[in-house]
Formats: sequence, C-alpha cells, structure tokens
Amino acid sequence: PAIEFGLEAPFSIEYHDSLGSTNDRARELATDGETDVAVVADEQTGGRGRLEREWSAPAGGVWVSLVTRPTITPAEAPLYTLAASVATATVAREAGVDARIKWPNDVVVPVGDDGAYRKLAGILTEMEGQTDRVDWLVAGIGVNANLDSDGLPEGATSVRDEADDVDRRRFVQRLLEEFDRYRTDLDSVVPAWRELALTIGQRVRVDRPAGEIVGEAVDVTESGALVVETDDGRVTVSAGDCEHLRPV
Ligand code: BTN
Repeated sequence: PAIEFGLEAPFSIEYHDSLGSTNDRARELATDGETDVAVVADEQTGGRGRLEREWSAPAGGVWVSLVTRPTITPAEAPLYTLAASVATATVAREAGVDARIKWPNDVVVPVGDDGAYRKLAGILTEMEGQTDRVDWLVAGIGVNANLDSDGLPEGATSVRDEADDVDRRRFVQRLLEEFDRYRTDLDSVVPAWRELALTIGQRVRVDRPAGEIVGEAVDVTESGALVVETDDGRVTVSAGDCEHLRPV
C-alpha cells in the first residue's frame, strides 16, 4: 500500500490504494451500523465536492472520510463540519502552511492582503437522521498534500507547494486526533474556528438560493452560521444555503 497504517488513533482505519469516493465507502459503512472508522484512499477516481461538484483526487493527497454516530440534532451538524476544517487547518499549520479557514469549510492559504486565497483543502459532510437526531454523519476531508498544484484545478494550492511533502500517515493521525478533540468538546469549535477565520471582517458577497447578499461578515453564530451586516440589517446564512462566497 502507498500509505502504511497501524497507528494508535481514535478511529480504526480502512485503507484503499484506490476508491471511487471515500465518502461513498464511508456512507456504506455508516448504513451498516459502523462508527468511528476512517476510510482513507491514496487516490479517488470519483471524488465529490460540495454542491455536486467534482473533486480532483490523484495519488499523493490526503483523502479521508470519517464515519461517526454523534448524539446531536441535525441543527448542530454544521459544527462537525467546522470541527473538521479547524482540525485540517491546525494540522496543515503544523506542516508549515499558513492555512486559514474561509467560511464555511474551505481551508485556504491567503495570497496578499486583499482577501485573495488559494484552496488547500475542502470538507464534504453528509448525514442521515430524523428531525430531532442524527443517525450517522460522514465528514469527508480532502487535502492537496504531496501534489504539484500545477496539476490541480485553477486556484488550488498544496502542502508541497506551500511548504514541503508530509508523512501522510502522520498527517492523518494528527487529523483524527484533532477532530476527536473537537467533537468531544463541541463548545470549543466556534472559538477555535474564529481564531483561524479569514472571512470575519471581510466584505463579502454570498450567493444563496434566496438571492445574493453583500455586506461585512461580522461573526459566526453558536451553530456555525455566518452573520453578514448588510445595508438592510443583519442576515444569518447557514452553511447549507451558501452556494458561493467571495470577498468583494
Ligand atoms: C469541497 O470543497 O467542495 C469539498 C471537497 C471534499 C473532498 C473530500 S476528499 C475525501 C472525501 N471523499 C470525497 O469524495 N469527497 C471528500
């Protein structure tokens, strides 16, 4: 295998050299009643991004999906996505990358001071449950790790290009440790997120199904929604309603 595991981690690891999508495999395990499994692949041939976009996932990246069965309501689920982005940014920073978070869930590296950025990693959370409780939640994390950003989509960067190649086994282990720390202390997620946020204080444009809004991003709520100060007052945008956010 391209990545040798056998590590002490809060999740058991199911490793594949190649998979369609680690999220798809994780969903199967979740549906079968499994929990606390991390599905890792060296490459994905059908990686998926948010909003049905494709996610380029060649060999050399960190492609992992975490199967969890949290005792939370669906309204609290965005905190799990923020926890995954905080964990990812933290571990990328340990690797020497100036990783920050673009709300809700993109891990980016700032370019200059005008809000421009390149994307280092993305998170795709999927879940199933009833209105009052989550049955399972899969947090898919994709990090452009040991890759040349030349071969990646426009606007992407990689750990290799920003710093140096990493030991992917160690990177995954640290990701699991950090994610575990935040999921067991959900109150600490938003404060940690704020420390890493690139979005707060920026003037942004947010595209939503209900129409676009423009204003200053001033805060995130307890449940992880973005508060935007517009000319017509404050508008709260949930992650699920955000089709696109860009600094203006
Ligand atoms: C995004 O920014 O749109 C989210 C990208 C999420 C990519 C990861 S890679 C591991 C997991 N498996 C997938 O198919 N997608 C996620």
